[in-house]
Amino acid sequence: MKFFIDTANLDQIREAQELGVLDGVTTNPSLMAKEGITGRNNILKHYVDICNIIEGDVSAEVIGTEFEQMVKEGEELAELHDQIVVKIPMIKDGVKALKYFSDNGIRTNCTLVFSVGQALLAAKAGATYVSPFIGRLDDISTDGLNLIAEIRHIYDNYAFETQILAASVRHTMHVIDCAKLGADVMTGPLSSIEGLLKHPLTDSGLAKFLADYNKGN
Ligand code: G3P
Repeated sequence: MKFFIDTANLDQIREAQELGVLDGVTTNPSLMAKEGITGRNNILKHYVDICNIIEGDVSAEVIGTEFEQMVKEGEELAELHDQIVVKIPMIKDGVKALKYFSDNGIRTNCTLVFSVGQALLAAKAGATYVSPFIGRLDDISTDGLNLIAEIRHIYDNYAFETQILAASVRHTMHVIDCAKLGADVMTGPLSSIEGLLKHPLTDSGLAKFLADYNKGN
């Protein structure tokens, strides 16, 4: 499973990169605003800054909601850097844009996916990634992980090449459950990745090993 970090914070992206297990970055307009990155030119520069920190895919979201706007913006984003993946919302014109980009060799990430029907449509349109938002489904008492399982089942039935990018991952158990269910990618905060390494028996075991070593030195 690929590990993406879901942030526009350059320090956290560097920290995840230095850990050596980072495969990509996802951003969205809210994450950009959280870092105080506003204005088209600053946002475009920030995408390039992210691409220069990591080696993997960087999702950059279009703002337009009509086909022509999405194509124009998406082509501009894709031109920025070869690591850019154009993020397209799951709306009617978005489906048309996914197909356009697929036909023209531009990689896409279909975002704001909350149902298997939407995921099926994204795959049919040739999306590179599909992003089901599991945390936001959990927030409204709906099983986000079950959506991952259902999409996996359908994609495997027909050997769709679209990669399932579990998004809106909030914590470490989401990461583990997504891995069990066969998500191709997960994107979450740095804390969800770092949580994987924690175990009290590791800490106490290491403390004992070091104490025993020091007895003889
Ligand atoms: O980037 C999209 C998604 O991961 C957002 O997550 O936590 O705002 O629901 P969240």
